[in-house]
Parts: sequence; C-alpha cells; structure tokens
Amino acid sequence: MKKSPDVTSILFGEDEIRERVAEIGSQITERYKGENILLIGILKGACIFMSDLARQIDGNVEFDFMAVSSYGIEAKSSGVVRIIKDIDRDIQGMNVIIVEDVIDSGFTMKFLKKYLKARGPKSIGIAVLLRKNVEQQIPVKPDYVGFECGDEFLVGYGLDYAGRYRNLPYIGILDPKVYA
Ligand code: IMP
Ligand code: MG
Repeated sequence: MKKSPDVTSILFGEDEIRERVAEIGSQITERYKGENILLIGILKGACIFMSDLARQIDGNVEFDFMAVSSYGIEAKSSGVVRIIKDIDRDIQGMNVIIVEDVIDSGFTMKFLKKYLKARGPKSIGIAVLLRKNVEQQIPVKPDYVGFECGDEFLVGYGLDYAGRYRNLPYIGILDPKVYA
C-alpha cells in the first residue's frame, strides 16, 4: 500500500511486522505447549496485532477483550485507568496473555496486569507490539515485544490518532502537522 501523506516515514513495514509476529507466535506456541491460552486483547489498538498473532499460535487459543481509557489533565496517560469494557468470563486457572498495542508510560499495562492477576489466572503473560523507549517508564516487563521504538507518535497496524489510521498495514510516524 502507498504511504499515507499524513505519515512522515514508515518505521516497520508489512513484511517486517509479519515476520516479527510469526516469531512471537512461535515463542508462545513453544512456551505453552499443550496448554490452553486466553488472549485478552486491549481494544481497540491491539485488534489487528491480536488477529495476526493468534493465527501464528499453534495451540488452543481463546479470545477475550477489554477496553480501557487513561485520562487526566494532560494528553499523556495520567495513571488513572478506567475500564470501558471488562472481560466476559472467569479467568481463574487460565493461562492469560494480555495483548496490547503500545507500552508508553507503562501505566495502562501496570493497571491491567494487577487487575487481571487479582482474578486468579494460572499464569499471566504480556505481548506488546511496541515498547517506547521513554524515560520514567514504569518497569512492567513484557514477555513478548514486537519492536522497541522512540517516543514519536505512531499510527497504523491498529494504532490510531483520533480514531484514524488504524487500517494502515504498516507502522509509521504521524506527521506532527496533523496534530499541531
Ligand atoms: P501508557 O499507559 O502511557 O503506557 O499508554 C499506552 C496507551 O497509549 C496505548 O494503549 C496506546 O493506546 C496509547 N499510545 C501510546 N503511544 C501511542 C502512539 O504512538 N500511537 C498510538 N497510541 C499510542
Ligand atoms: Mg490503547
């Protein structure tokens, strides 16, 4: 697909993403051999990553979803995370993997891990497409990281700006003039 004019450069292209997602899928297949897995996707950003990742896992995989929003006075994550949609089921005794698009400040992931852990899963893993290298990130230790990146604002492959660009098949840097 042609680069969107609102994207200054493509950081991770379709082929690179496909290869990386396949690698993570193989790692998960190995790690959970013969055990059931419940992927919990964090809407909406993780939706494309999760659909591709799930198809690269050879095993018994079930899906659930949560939607959260972090808000505050600043545009950045405030550390206050609100649940918009909770999981539908009991996760006691399940091998849960949280599937998220981005770890930025780490507040969202810290909240999700604590929240889900309290519901008694057998194990809890974290698969994140992108981890931003930002100072003062809460140490959350994801088990699977697609790509490390800087702190530019990225869109595509599920990531949005104001609800748009999620459908771009690559991950690109959003032109700052779009949000200026
Ligand atoms: P955190 O709580 O600061 O780690 O924020 C993580 C959330 O911020 C992710 O779930 C994303 O929805 C959003 N986010 C952070 N950086 C970006 C970005 O570059 N593009 C799109 N969404 C982002
Ligand atoms: Mg998100």
